Amino acid sequence: MTSTNTAYWEQLWREGRRYRSLASWEEKILAAQVGPGRGRAALDIGCGTGELAGHLSSRLSYTVTAIDCSPTALAAAEHQHGSPGIDFRLMDFAADDPADLPQPAYALVTCRLVFRWMPDKGAFLDRVRRVLAPGGVFWVATSLHDPEEGPAQEWDLSPADAELLTANWSVVRRSSSRTFHCLALRP
Ligand SMILES: C[S@@+](CC[C@H](N)C(=O)[O-])C[C@H]1O[C@@H](n2cnc3c(N)ncnc32)[C@H](O)[C@@H]1O
Repeated sequence: MTSTNTAYWEQLWREGRRYRSLASWEEKILAAQVGPGRGRAALDIGCGTGELAGHLSSRLSYTVTAIDCSPTALAAAEHQHGSPGIDFRLMDFAADDPADLPQPAYALVTCRLVFRWMPDKGAFLDRVRRVLAPGGVFWVATSLHDPEEGPAQEWDLSPADAELLTANWSVVRRSSSRTFHCLALRP
């Protein structure tokens, strides 16, 4: 099954759209928040060109499933970060059956610059909870609107959506700027 969302993202990738690279401060926060993988399973939702998936595999030793709904993004990810430790898959997380994932549960689920764009955020979070292993971490990197920084940007998560995202989890939030945040969410 596919959603209209898929066509939107595929067009952006084909037009050459690219997104901010992982910064070294972000890598440090990620390591501190999620710890070493030691071969445990991680799922990166909306992997784009695969930089985070590559980092989780090569630097943090997770066994990674990386999914994206855009064939163009996925081809770039395979090309740039393909390795035996990463299973790149074409999948629409909002529409396809999570039971199709290669692992029944993941110790770590990551989602960088993705949650903001999910049309049905409640349903998305329900799906994340279905695939997260007991004791697992849901790690989200997102831009949050800070009124002191001026008007909201298109890519900022609204305060209401931030509340939805963090409700009913134990949350640790770290930021290196007023607007870009890394959240480690535990059930
Ligand atoms: C803003 S980009 C971020 C890409 C990457 N995570 C990064 O940090 O550079 C959002 C990504 O999510 C993917 N995406 C959006 N909706 C999706 C869905 N329902 N299932 C899987 N991937 C999705 C898009 O194709 C795109 O690659």
